[in-house]
Amino acid sequence: MKYLLLSMLTAAVLTLSGCESGVDSPSGFSLPEGDAVRGQSVLVKYQCLSCHQMEGITPTDVVDNPELSVKLGGKTSGIKTYAELVTSVINPSHKIAKGYPKSTLQVDGVSKMKNYNDVMTVGELSDLVFFLQSSYELTPYPRTQYRYYETL
Ligand code: HEC
Repeated sequence: MKYLLLSMLTAAVLTLSGCESGVDSPSGFSLPEGDAVRGQSVLVKYQCLSCHQMEGITPTDVVDNPELSVKLGGKTSGIKTYAELVTSVINPSHKIAKGYPKSTLQVDGVSKMKNYNDVMTVGELSDLVFFLQSSYELTPYPRTQYRYYETL
């Protein structure tokens, strides 16, 4: 009886938490903590400001794409979580930025953003996201403390 109740309770909890705990859930994902100063140099290194503008940062030596000037950071962005921020860098077509005419940002559902997945290291990505994070107003995200994970 005790076990039956326990399994019913477990099933109820799993149902309630829905996709939060499903196999496709982003819960539990976190890049290692980065360094904001290094993150800013990653932004410069990959010329992100050739298509973006960011408050407080003046682009130097960038090839400008005048038709693209997507703002990074701020309240109006559709990016509300850490997972969305990471995704927007490594899989930009997943969700196209809001607030711009769609045709200027994508072609047939594919973002005009350059793909860096074969050149940017995970260390660079961690620093970059850490740096960008402070300019977005993201829902507080509990960083996964992997050292406390236990294997069963
Ligand atoms: C060739 C132009 C181009 C370059 C270079 C570029 N991006 Fe983008 N980026 C875009 C476009 C266009 C969008 C809007 C479409 C979309 O959401 O994918 C975008 C969207 C984004 C967004 C989501 C913005 C939001 O608030 O929704 C982030 C974050 C971002 N880029 C980061 C970067 C970073 C970091 C780099 C450099 C490593 C970079 N981009 C380089 C064109 C570019």
